[in-house]
Amino acid sequence: MSVNPVLIIEKKRDGHELSSEELRDFIKGIAAGTIEDYQATAFLMATFFQGMTPAETVALTKAMLESGERIDLSSVAGTKVDKHSTGGVGDKVSLILAPLAAACGLIVPMMAGRGLGHSGGTLDKLESIEGFQVQISKQDYIRILKNAGCAIIGQTASIVPADKKLYSLRDVTGTVPCVPLICGSILSKKLAEGTNALLLDVKVGSGAFMKTLSEAKTLAKSLITVAKKMGLPARALITDMNQPLGYAVGNSLEVLECIEILRGSKPASSDLSSVDLRELTLTQCAHMLVLGKKAKNLKDGRILALKKLQDGTAWEKFRSMVSEQGGNLTWLDEPNLFPKAPIEVQWKSKKRGYLKSMDTEALGKILVDLGGGRKRAADPVDPAVGIWFHAKLGAKLTSGQTIATVFARDEKILHALEQRFQASLEISGTRPKLPPLVHAEIT
Ligand code: URA
Repeated sequence: MSVNPVLIIEKKRDGHELSSEELRDFIKGIAAGTIEDYQATAFLMATFFQGMTPAETVALTKAMLESGERIDLSSVAGTKVDKHSTGGVGDKVSLILAPLAAACGLIVPMMAGRGLGHSGGTLDKLESIEGFQVQISKQDYIRILKNAGCAIIGQTASIVPADKKLYSLRDVTGTVPCVPLICGSILSKKLAEGTNALLLDVKVGSGAFMKTLSEAKTLAKSLITVAKKMGLPARALITDMNQPLGYAVGNSLEVLECIEILRGSKPASSDLSSVDLRELTLTQCAHMLVLGKKAKNLKDGRILALKKLQDGTAWEKFRSMVSEQGGNLTWLDEPNLFPKAPIEVQWKSKKRGYLKSMDTEALGKILVDLGGGRKRAADPVDPAVGIWFHAKLGAKLTSGQTIATVFARDEKILHALEQRFQASLEISGTRPKLPPLVHAEIT
């Protein structure tokens, strides 16, 4: 590193614009381990408060991309289209969407993330399946894409190592909700993985990092602008995160919910299939099919996606991906094999009325405290804890009705967590207006 990292941290702290060379050197030092974690974290916090100019955001993304190698997928035939969510609670769409879009004829090279702050992570969810590997070599990644049509992998020491490091630091230092850091993190992964086009799912609401529509639009526009500057065609959907998506929150439970939906025409217990999750997945698939020119318009795309979900092709693709990535297929056929934490309790409504609002970030933090997320970078994640919701926004509740079943390991924390759970809910006497699933489309 040719410049002193302290000077770069101070420059950002004082609100000055960093040059491309400064950002490149600093990010290179993070990836090489010559910049200490405490310096990286100070830089993240300074960026959180001071922000970055559009030119800095592009330079940060480029520097993060160049911290590792960029994968050339030209040997894999077909159009590659990926999707990335900015993060939410119960957002398990990628697990269904990747195999579904592959079933519709796309190649889906998906480099995903772990839990971040209060939001869940696709990699943590998939690792609940016994044997499932997310640390994949470049050669295996290409082989899996050729054989299964989709792969969901994590950052490695050679592919976006800077994001691997910064992501885990942001997770535990309160520096996630920051537009340039989110742009750099998401787009460096997407540019490295070799996709031809990208659908961005920008979450908005109480469980998202962007709480208001205007903040979400700012993030979506920044993501699209930086993607285009880097030569990656992208479009964004701004989707609702004012309640957990689907019913499950927690790694194993979320995989089980996805299995139910992927089994499509042959659900094991149809009452588990959640409408919002399935609907959002079909919508996103339609957008990916239009981006990848497999459908003329969204209507045709949705019809194709629904067909492939219902006829079992998406389920077969999921099985193929799980098997190629080392997962034990028996677990997909026998859901009882997934671990469930030993203490099961019901959290009930304290009064009668309609479920008007849920502080979804608070719900995500309850999962973290149950052990389903991280408080320190090296924390393991417990796949067996979680919350199964029995009510969505707008539900008519009676007093004493179960709103959630909780799977926990530690009895002692449950009383305080239930109090936080009750405080996160608003129950009103009048029927609330429900938020739309998709708030806006940005192309
Ligand atoms: N997903 C990512 O990969 N990075 C972020 O910063 C947020 C969501």
